[in-house]
Amino acid sequence: MKFNIAVLAGDGIGPEVMEQAQKVSEAVAEKFGHEITWKPALTGAAAIDAVGEPYPDSTHQVCLASDAVLFGAIGLPRFDNDPSAKVRPENGLLQMRKQLGLFANLRPTFTFPSLLDKSPLKQERIEGTDLVFLRELTGGIYFGEKGRRDGGETAFDNCVYTRVEVQRLAKKGFELAMTRSKRLCCVDKANVMETSRLWRETVQAMEKDYPEVEVSYELVDAVAMRLVQWPNSYDVLITENLFGDILTDEASVISGSMGLMPSASMGSDIALFEPIHGSYPQATGLNIANPMAMVLSAAMMFEIAFNLPEEGKVIRDAVNKALAEGIVTEDLADGGKAYGTKEVGDFLAANI
Ligand code: IPM
Ligand code: MN
Repeated sequence: MKFNIAVLAGDGIGPEVMEQAQKVSEAVAEKFGHEITWKPALTGAAAIDAVGEPYPDSTHQVCLASDAVLFGAIGLPRFDNDPSAKVRPENGLLQMRKQLGLFANLRPTFTFPSLLDKSPLKQERIEGTDLVFLRELTGGIYFGEKGRRDGGETAFDNCVYTRVEVQRLAKKGFELAMTRSKRLCCVDKANVMETSRLWRETVQAMEKDYPEVEVSYELVDAVAMRLVQWPNSYDVLITENLFGDILTDEASVISGSMGLMPSASMGSDIALFEPIHGSYPQATGLNIANPMAMVLSAAMMFEIAFNLPEEGKVIRDAVNKALAEGIVTEDLADGGKAYGTKEVGDFLAANI
């Protein structure tokens, strides 16, 4: 098969980890007889510096014309430390999600057998953890009206959801639960927030269409606690944008390193794949960043966007082999030998 893949490497370690994902994808393409055409495009601070905006229309056109988008990471401290900055790299990411209609963000959390002792959580608690968050990505407080009043002394961010937005996300959650252990947890704050009550009411009304799925409703604060106590009690969790942002960072520590977890963002048409970690600016150019989350994002791309599970599996197998043999970057080296970003990428590509 032939694929056009948009490559939005972004800032910080984005370009370094992206290079490894491309290298590994090329090895997969060669093994299975596919042909990939890479379409690089600017995003984040790199785009602000080059053309004054973080998600220029030229980049949007590249994404629209591609079969999938691989996204690295964006953000640089010089923007974080300037609250008055009008143009931020993160706006590019949000704009991109909205413009590409990527309303469903799939964030898996799983453990690797060879890394059980790397998690800060007790081994017996995390063993067997294999859960998936479906985070709503184009609504809620991220996209509601925000601003200042009272001469700047009061700030507000509105949280808005429509029933349709909840339904389309929940539908993906129910469908995903049907392919897994048929358990779905709706995470909300329905004891306080009106948007959460709309979520709960909407999901409750959908239960009859999926009689085999066992649905539970849990408050977000309780989930935050139970996630680190009994992570292996969860399967599919659906939630709104901000809760999902926070809980998926929390969940990433279960696997042992944030540098391991991939994600997929989907809508009706194009899908985007990115690691859940950020741009780790301190590590830029040092060849120390863990490329595995980016590489596993490429695996999800083969599986989800191209419907090629075998191709995804060879990537996952290569990652497991690297972990088992200790071909890892410093975040996982635990005092042992740490390999460079590029060396880990080379090992993965050579083991496809
Ligand atoms: C994420 C990130 C983004 C988010 C930021 C960079 C805007 O934290 O993808 O989780 O909050 O969604
Ligand atoms: Mn986040």
